Amino acid sequence: MTLYRATFLHTPANPFESDHALQIEDDGGLLVQSGSIVQSGSYTDVRAAYPAEPVEDLRGGLLLPGFIDTHVHYPQVRVIGGLGLPLLEWLDTITLPEEAKFGEDAYAAAIAREFVSGLTSNGTTTALIFGSHFASAVRILFQEASRAGLRAVAGQVVSDRMLRPELHTTPDRAYAEGKALIEEWHGRGRTLYAVTPRFSLSASEGILDACAALMTEFPDVRFTSHINENGREVETVRELFPGSRDYLDTYQRAGLVTRRSVLAHSIHPNDRELGAMAEHRCTAAHCPCSNSALGSGLFPLKRHLAAGVHVSLGTDVGGGTGFSMLKEGLQAHFMQQLMGPDGVPLSPAHLLYLATRAGAEALQLEGQLGDFSTGKSFDAVYLRPAAGSVMATVLSHAPSTERALASLFAGGTQSDVAQVWVAGDLVYSRSQPNSESIN
Ligand code: GUN
Ligand code: ZN
Repeated sequence: MTLYRATFLHTPANPFESDHALQIEDDGGLLVQSGSIVQSGSYTDVRAAYPAEPVEDLRGGLLLPGFIDTHVHYPQVRVIGGLGLPLLEWLDTITLPEEAKFGEDAYAAAIAREFVSGLTSNGTTTALIFGSHFASAVRILFQEASRAGLRAVAGQVVSDRMLRPELHTTPDRAYAEGKALIEEWHGRGRTLYAVTPRFSLSASEGILDACAALMTEFPDVRFTSHINENGREVETVRELFPGSRDYLDTYQRAGLVTRRSVLAHSIHPNDRELGAMAEHRCTAAHCPCSNSALGSGLFPLKRHLAAGVHVSLGTDVGGGTGFSMLKEGLQAHFMQQLMGPDGVPLSPAHLLYLATRAGAEALQLEGQLGDFSTGKSFDAVYLRPAAGSVMATVLSHAPSTERALASLFAGGTQSDVAQVWVAGDLVYSRSQPNSESIN
């Protein structure tokens, strides 16, 4: 057992529903046994209950639940930063040529390492990952995530039209390869499988039906795709599915909109779509850096919340600009601010919730992780700016712990991530020196 002593913050409740969702322990204690939190509270209380356990002193920074990135693409690490193109042009000229390289295992293996370390070194402990169109590359990703200790919810991306021939499959092959991957990886260690048609634009009804067959046969696997991201995309989907009421309906008619579904972007939904998303309890994964970089639009968070749609956060690497969930939270905040009366003011509690517990809820993992309550897995990120950095100065003068959290969302980067744990295992440790105490 280890007793972690730290200033910790977490959101066991939803700050969009409660004013008291953010819990702060300025001198907190988390007693961890076999990767799980056995007792959570003030250091004094936990120490009194466990006077003899070894203490790991993490004072001087902030300890948060590990970040949960609910939308990120494995084969897009090396194309981060293709700025200035709208979605469909960006896919054609930058992204799909890169994804076509993943038929080669050595290439996939190199990027699997870059991808997984990109996540863990930014404090992400769980990710819902768009895999590759190539089954072998997906296997390589699962192997690397397992080796590194990351919680990976991932799947083979499937499409059968409008991309490039080497990225196309058939419904039968999509089903067969998906089934084999599920049987090999779903529920093995920390990995779960997500059935992943790329988007309706590149999927025939046959492919969506093959996905639905997998979802029925394996009632515990997750589902993810894209929706309502870009005006031209939405228009094209409308033309491709004349029998569907709207974009959501292309998935809904196949039975793919459920509590297990996470749909990325959702920037241009109509009211029927929002109502159906809420009714079926699926999640919209908001990816604000990507939405800005690709000029996709302003996410109508207020309308999602009003309709009762669950919302989580994703980096959408490589449409997005990097793996930092701190940056993603900041960009979400910026965009809501810029929307004026149509925006939702996001407090530090909202940002922390979106970056952690909301993702656990999206993935139906909230019973196991996403906050520091007793019984949860010790998945954590220790943010401690390097000595002499601007962020160390800012934190050392923060008037409150909540303001320190806001400052880390505003200015924190990968360099402020000192240590990261998944189920009590250290999965990342920075080599740079720590700052002076912020307290
Ligand atoms: N829609 C279909 N594929 C993609 C992708 O790779 N990135 C984004 N942002 N949207 C998509
Ligand atoms: Zn995406």
